[in-house]
Amino acid sequence: VSTAILISGRGSNMASLVAAAAEPGYPARIDLVVSNRPGAPGLARAEAAGIATATVDHKAFPDRESFERALDARLREASIALVVLAGFMRVLTPWFVARWEGRLVNIHPSLLPAFRGTDTHARALAAGVAEHGCSVHLVTADLDAGPVIAQETVPVLPGDTAETLAARVLEREHVLYPRALATLASHIARNRA
Ligand code: GRF
Repeated sequence: VSTAILISGRGSNMASLVAAAAEPGYPARIDLVVSNRPGAPGLARAEAAGIATATVDHKAFPDRESFERALDARLREASIALVVLAGFMRVLTPWFVARWEGRLVNIHPSLLPAFRGTDTHARALAAGVAEHGCSVHLVTADLDAGPVIAQETVPVLPGDTAETLAARVLEREHVLYPRALATLASHIARNRA
């Protein structure tokens, strides 16, 4: 299944997906990495792994929807069937979400439905939860509220800061996302056959 990964920054989840997809028999093929930020460190990482990259700079467009039309055109030009958000820091409009319904997935650093939105690790600490983690979910028009397809849990430890907790969660993200993408891509391939 031809897959694109959308990033905005360092791209560590993207790198874990690219590494997993290089394994024989993995059901998703990473054909394109797109950043909305020129010079995002993840772009160089993708290039080093031999993946085609593109930049669609949201600042070059007058509004969200024209940015998304350009992004959508780039994805269609590459015959992409599945879109994976990995640290992509733009909220997508209902137009884009509807166009990719069931084929658009995100990873979020919390145990959804807890802590939608940003600053999840600091908020988890402030709330005093004993467990935290990450979730992979299908993207719907409501931010971080689409159906969860996989989760990993980590303990919150005494002395944790937002940084130590984020690092513990990120390690699990790098395991969870490749697994969840494999499940989704196999499902899409089966429905197509
Ligand atoms: C991850 O924690 C992801 O869950 C969140 O943003 C971070 C992106 O990190 N949405 P990276 O760019 O994949 O390294």
